[in-house]
Amino acid sequence: GKAGKFMTKKIILDCDPGHDDALAMMLAVASPKIELLAVTTSAGNQTPDKTLNNAMRMLKLLGREDIPIAGGNRTPLVKPLETAGEVHGESGLDGYPLPEPDFQPVDLTAIELIAKMLNESSTPVTLVVTGPMTNAALFLRVYPELAKAKIDQIVYMGGAMGLGNWQPSVEFNIFVDPEAAKIVMNFGIPLVMAPLNVTHQAQILKPEIEALKQIKNPVGQAFYGLLSFFERYHENPKWGFQGAPLHDPCTIAWLIEPEMFQTEKMNVDVETTGELTRGETVCDYYQLTSKPQNTEVMLGINRQRFIEMIMEALHSFD
Ligand code: RIB
Ligand code: CA
Repeated sequence: GKAGKFMTKKIILDCDPGHDDALAMMLAVASPKIELLAVTTSAGNQTPDKTLNNAMRMLKLLGREDIPIAGGNRTPLVKPLETAGEVHGESGLDGYPLPEPDFQPVDLTAIELIAKMLNESSTPVTLVVTGPMTNAALFLRVYPELAKAKIDQIVYMGGAMGLGNWQPSVEFNIFVDPEAAKIVMNFGIPLVMAPLNVTHQAQILKPEIEALKQIKNPVGQAFYGLLSFFERYHENPKWGFQGAPLHDPCTIAWLIEPEMFQTEKMNVDVETTGELTRGETVCDYYQLTSKPQNTEVMLGINRQRFIEMIMEALHSFD
């Protein structure tokens, strides 16, 4: 019969590229189910100028210089900025010589660009956040009514149930800006969370990275170099990985094919004052509080299907 007509999902991607942010952007651009309205960038994996330049280099690589892009806040809301050069390299996207962008960002701040796109969209938009939540929080604070009217959900990579990758129980994105995360989690817009619990399962294995070498188009070749670089940081035996965890692409994969994931609804909030736990996402898995179940949390993934989706997306640039 006629293939089911699917509704394309309009999204805005707020990111801090970052190797896995770059892969999330590629998935969004490649998927016929996703319409990427705009890109905004946050400071996290690297300094704000570098993450903006990286996002622009990625749009150039993907042939989508038409997508409007704007840089966001240069610092977290309260904390000083801490970056992750040891993970993503000096540029924030080391491992492959990406084309320098020959276009300009729009002359708007990130939250002004988000407001513009939401006002122009006739239907609600999904906000995808794959870095610190600074821009998302500022948007909710400055444009609360527009947010309630035109953001249908916020899908984000960040946090964890019990784990951490930057402090013992704190994941990097939330670590960088805990106060922003608390604003987002308590605003009331439905949330979908990709915590370390699922992203550590979403590994691309070393042989699968090697196989990217056979994808003879500029995007496949770029990700062969980028993911080869990204994988090296994760070889430290303390992680117990067989490859590299693809954190941020879990957000886009969920939007494209939610059945790829096992999820649970629960309340998620953020600790902002703990000496050891500032930035910890506190997940009420056993519903021990009467707090609203504000978040659908991804806890399991069909890794094979996830990798197939990524390979199909990379081949779509042939
Ligand atoms: O902890 C993983 C997260 O931090 C990912 O979003 C990665 O890109 C970094 O921003
Ligand atoms: Ca990121």
